[in-house]
Amino acid sequence: MPRTWQKLRYSSQCESASIPRTSRRVRTTWQMSGAKPSPREEARTAQEAAAQLASMWDLQLASPSKVNLFLRVLGKRPDGYHDIASLFQAVSLHDDMYFAVLPPEATADELECTEPGVPSDDSNLVIKAFKAFRKRTGIEMYFRVHLDKRIPAEAGLGGGSGNAATALWAANELSGKSLTSKDLADIGAEFGSDVSFFFSMGTAYCTGRGEILKLLDRLLPQTLWLVKPTEGLSTAEVFKKLDLSQTSDADPEVLLKQIQTKIFVCCDYVNDLEKPSFELVPRLAVIKTALEDAGFNKVAMSGSGTTFFCMGEPDREMFGDNFALIFSANYDVQVMRGMFVWRRHPNYWYLQTPPLDELSEYRDERLVNKGLSGESPEPFLVNRQQP
Ligand code: C5P
Repeated sequence: MPRTWQKLRYSSQCESASIPRTSRRVRTTWQMSGAKPSPREEARTAQEAAAQLASMWDLQLASPSKVNLFLRVLGKRPDGYHDIASLFQAVSLHDDMYFAVLPPEATADELECTEPGVPSDDSNLVIKAFKAFRKRTGIEMYFRVHLDKRIPAEAGLGGGSGNAATALWAANELSGKSLTSKDLADIGAEFGSDVSFFFSMGTAYCTGRGEILKLLDRLLPQTLWLVKPTEGLSTAEVFKKLDLSQTSDADPEVLLKQIQTKIFVCCDYVNDLEKPSFELVPRLAVIKTALEDAGFNKVAMSGSGTTFFCMGEPDREMFGDNFALIFSANYDVQVMRGMFVWRRHPNYWYLQTPPLDELSEYRDERLVNKGLSGESPEPFLVNRQQP
């Protein structure tokens, strides 16, 4: 089923609910007659469906993924978490999120997701995000969310954390923008170590349990191949398996400097969580070696896995133009493409396009460190206290 029709099916389910908006299910002559549509008819229908979907919601946002370009684990803390030092980078592979403000009489948020098995109750980070937002601001607003999933789960790509961050951003936008990015990052840290990162501009050096951000200038643009084995891993499980006597001794500050100054193919992509992940899923080591043999310059696991990001291109003699097809058939993996992304302006979320006049005010990209809604030029530190 084409993606737009998947969306349309879900949006039509929303019609019966309480959003005071009208929507009309788009049906064209060819659909009613059952005749095969021409490409032009299909394209028009897809456009109409997308426009219809957009008109039903108050805000549509992309919820990006992330990779950890390196991840050092420095030690275990008394609270059970681990201190890490990691370079996080936002990636273009994203989920689509649609938000609508529910009428004043609503008493609960509503979440629907295209991915079966994603919980839509209080255990979902998106619902946790809205609750935390209300608690912090005292604003009694409830939201409906449609989540169109593309980022795989248990992948080390921060999909759920990105959804929570995007929900916090949306709640703030739809309720009058009372909070700063730093406030939102603080709230996010209460329910997930990776949530705060998304309130950077897209590149951040993260320490503590991941929630203390040092905002960095943009790295060089880079495309990636993302390879997600069918097996997933829970972050808690991987940290539990980690043997701290077996971690790398690379200095994270040196790793950081290297990535900021050298070309990517010459850098070391150390990830201390690879070893425990490979112990939990031995096939991961086989897949990593196969990716290195496929001709990529660098292959490393992101976060607690199980996704590998690969830099460079697969060997053309081996794969021609069919790397994704051949490799996924041979290794039972999902192959995706992505590129580094950044927020283009502190007032806008990832992949949102600010008007030109706002962009020109903001043309020096090195100003990103000053860019959190005019806040302090210092790198911001998220509240370290546990909830
Ligand atoms: O914060 P988050 O919910 O993503 O963490 C999931 C689990 O991963 C935690 O409960 C903890 O067991 C482990 N973790 C850790 N150290 C970190 C981040 C996560 O031990 N820095």
